[in-house]
Formats: sequence, structure tokens, C-alpha cells
Amino acid sequence: MNMERVKVGIVGLDDMMGGGLIAGSICSLIGTYGTGKTTFSLEFVWEGLKKGESIIYISLEEREERILLYMRQKGWDVEPFLNKTLFVIKLDPTDFNLANNRIKNELPKLIQKVKASRVVIDPISLFEDLFTSDSERRQEMFRFIEGLRDKQCTIMMTSETDRDNVFSSRHALIEYLSDTVILLRYVRPSDLTDVHLALEVVKMRMSSHSREIKPYELMQDQVLVYSEANVF
Ligand SMILES: Nc1ncnc2c1ncn2[C@@H]1O[C@H](COP(=O)(O)OP(=O)(O)OP(=O)(O)O)[C@@H](O)[C@H]1O
Ligand SMILES: [Mg+2]
Repeated sequence: MNMERVKVGIVGLDDMMGGGLIAGSICSLIGTYGTGKTTFSLEFVWEGLKKGESIIYISLEEREERILLYMRQKGWDVEPFLNKTLFVIKLDPTDFNLANNRIKNELPKLIQKVKASRVVIDPISLFEDLFTSDSERRQEMFRFIEGLRDKQCTIMMTSETDRDNVFSSRHALIEYLSDTVILLRYVRPSDLTDVHLALEVVKMRMSSHSREIKPYELMQDQVLVYSEANVF
């Protein structure tokens, strides 16, 4: 079956996924601090804006102005899109009831209202942190993700890695609920004096994909994934 693809907008990464994410699927980007989770998600946003799509960006960490500043710093003119096809929303992750209500009840309605075709939640791990028990978190996250699946939009969530395991998200849950999992991490080769960034497409439901670990660089105006190069 030839599934419709939604380009992230990062050339080498889209190539690794057979052209892009599957339309309507849920992707998680997992990485530790500074690996580029926010940067990747903004590329995904900009790609959609350029195509005339409607985008919702939920930030649980950084304020709206900062997100817009990052985009402007990349040389992207976001002004014409703002509050027309680009909706940036900051949620306070310390207020559980408010964040929970806005994410679980208001987000699905907003997606329909603005006909969003791309949604980013950065980082979902701060929302996951709010639950007091593992079983509640599992149940609620499952419901939330399944609720989003009915919508005609492609979702990108970012997650911080577990403190002790760079291959796992903080709560080791989102990777099971997502259709696609992209892992971002630092590689510190013993014979080199600098740190490299490397990514892999760990999982992709309904699609073949590269299983190779590829180096990438965060440049001021773009992300470069060297899909022809090897890290090791
Ligand atoms: N203007 C720039 N030019 C080149 N590299 C940059 C620039 N701005 C940021 N970076 C790189 O991007 C990194 C930050 O990326 P980003 O904020 O996307 O990471 P993150 O995974 O979202 O981090 P966190 O978990 O802290 O939110 C910086 O540490 C830096 O290496
Ligand atoms: Mg970030």
C-alpha cells in the first residue's frame, strides 16, 4: 500500500523514512538536552507552513515568544502565518488540572477548529511527569494518543531521555504509543576529541525505513542529516 507521506522538512531524515512520516501518524522524537528536539520540531512546523498547512505548536517548556524568536532567528518570516495558520500555545506543566484539561479536551477541539494538519507537543515528557502513578500515566496517555488518532493530522511529540538510558524516553512509554520513533543522541568516540550528534529511526509502523545510525548537525538555519555518511 502506498501511504501518503508528510515531509518533516529535513532532507536526509525524510529519505531515511521512505519520503517522510506517514500522514496522520504519531511520531516521537526522543533525545537528551540539546540534541535538537525543539529544532527538529520547528523544521516540521516550517515545512507545513510553507505548504499552506495549519499548525498547532504546544510548548510545555518555553514561552511563545521564545519559540517565535527561534523561528525568526532561522530567517523564517512567521508573521504572515501567526494566529492564521500558526498557533503557538504555552502550557504551564505545573498546573496539572489545567494542563491536563487543555491537552486532553481542548487540543482535539482546536485541531478540528483550525483544521490543523500538523501538531507538535514539546516536550510531552513534562506532561507525562504530571501523573502520580505509572498505571494512571499509562492509561491516560493511551487514551490521549488514541483520541488524537481520529484526527486528520500528523503529530510530532518530543521527549527527554531517561536519565540512565539514552535509548529510552523518560517514562519508557511514548515509544510504545507512537507509530514512529526517532532517537537523537550524542556520540563520543574514544579516539576523537569532539562530540558528534547521531540519529536513528528506531521504529516506523506501516513502513520500511533505514536502520542505520546517521550523523547530523544543527546549523543556524537548517538541520543537516548526513544520510550517506557513517558515524562509526
Ligand atoms: N544558531 C545556532 N546555530 C548553530 N547551532 C545552534 C544554534 N542554536 C542552537 N544550536 C544548537 O542546537 C542546540 C539546542 O537545540 P534544541 O533547543 O533544539 O535542543 P533540545 O533537544 O530541544 O534541548 P532541550 O532538551 O534543552 O529543550 C544547542 O545546544 C546548539 O548546539
Ligand atoms: Mg527543547
